[in-house]
Amino acid sequence: MELNQNSIIAIIGSGTMGSGIAQIAATNGHKTYLYDTNQSALDKAKSNLIKVLDRLIEKNKIDNNKKEDILNNIIYTNDINILSDSNLVIEAIIENLEIKKDLFTKLQEIIGENCIYATNTSSLSIAALSSCFKKQENFIGIHFFNPAPLLPLVEIVPSFITDNIITNQVKTLITKWGKITVLTKDTPGFIVNRVARPFYSESLRILDEGIADIATIDWALKEIGGFRMGPFELMDFIGHDVNYIVTETVFKEFYYDPRFKPSLTQKRLMEAGMNGRKSGRGFYNYAENAINIEPSKDNRLGEYIFNRVIAMLVNEAYDALFMNIASKEDIELAMTKGVNYPKGLFAWGEEIGLSNIVQRIQELNTEYQEDRYRPCPLLKRMAN
Ligand SMILES: NC(=O)c1ccc[n+]([C@@H]2O[C@H](COP(=O)([O-])OP(=O)(O)OC[C@H]3O[C@@H](n4cnc5c(N)ncnc54)[C@H](O)[C@@H]3O)[C@@H](O)[C@H]2O)c1
Repeated sequence: MELNQNSIIAIIGSGTMGSGIAQIAATNGHKTYLYDTNQSALDKAKSNLIKVLDRLIEKNKIDNNKKEDILNNIIYTNDINILSDSNLVIEAIIENLEIKKDLFTKLQEIIGENCIYATNTSSLSIAALSSCFKKQENFIGIHFFNPAPLLPLVEIVPSFITDNIITNQVKTLITKWGKITVLTKDTPGFIVNRVARPFYSESLRILDEGIADIATIDWALKEIGGFRMGPFELMDFIGHDVNYIVTETVFKEFYYDPRFKPSLTQKRLMEAGMNGRKSGRGFYNYAENAINIEPSKDNRLGEYIFNRVIAMLVNEAYDALFMNIASKEDIELAMTKGVNYPKGLFAWGEEIGLSNIVQRIQELNTEYQEDRYRPCPLLKRMAN
């Protein structure tokens, strides 16, 4: 079965991600099922979509007819049997291996094995999920970013057994939906959630050592680095329950490589339920009239912070390339389109000078004697 304009798309899970992906499929003219076991999640998804579409009308991005078409394209359902004629299933339910496998087993009984099945998982292995399929070659990861309708990047993650034809069909379809796709190996964090780790973890390390406070680190990375948000603002925005868990999962999945070691400070925030903006409190206090600390705009300190974080980021990008996680072009695209970095990390590294990056990491290694600070062999080779 070839995926095309007439393909019927089933989205499983009508939460944050599923409802956004359903909006994309329906906007692109597909008959779209949005299935959830929880009726109130379906109701919420529907009322939210109406609000989103009304806002798009106000901004003259769509007209009333388009709104009606999009709404008519989506069938909200809690009856799994309705999904039987689907051609592509994209699962976006709770991040739990066994629950996802149970769901896929049930879906295969209803839809059959010839459908293309995909997961939007952020952290589970595609290979582990694929073990419940009769046709493992028809299963793939399609990783959207939040908010899915707005963020252009989609990581396409075949498992080692996914059929190339399926990978290409999925890539073509998602590109037609106006997204920028990158191809990545089925490894922890894929591209973005792996390569971006040092942005958080090195900043947390600088905080934990008492070198600078959150406001100063955020200021340095925005002012000197040109990042749109500082790491602490961004972690508060993402939520520590999400961001910390991603870090911990990547750390465990990489067999406790110290490069990915999480911070106890962030863990404590999560344990206290201070998950960031959505909780009203995280690194910053979001209560009305709350007074937050001001950065000490010390340029030398700012340069130190930026140099340390960017060196670790560039090193991680080189390591992803070294381990063949993705092509150089796709890693650049992923970091500029997925997380809005002001520059691709390879281009940035060249600009700073690869030998300078290597030197910084080696200096940190000399100081700390920790395996966390080890320049990637490919980075060293390129620097020479
Ligand atoms: N939120 C993000 O930023 C983000 C980004 C990329 C990928 N993801 C991934 O997308 C998936 C969904 O995340 P989310 O943030 O949208 O979650 P969510 O909690 O907002 O929504 C999950 C929905 O799945 C439904 N559900 C749970 N079990 C179900 C089942 N067995 N059958 C049918 N529906 C079921 C729930 O009722 C809920 O409405 C996860 O795998 C997550 O890792 C999340």
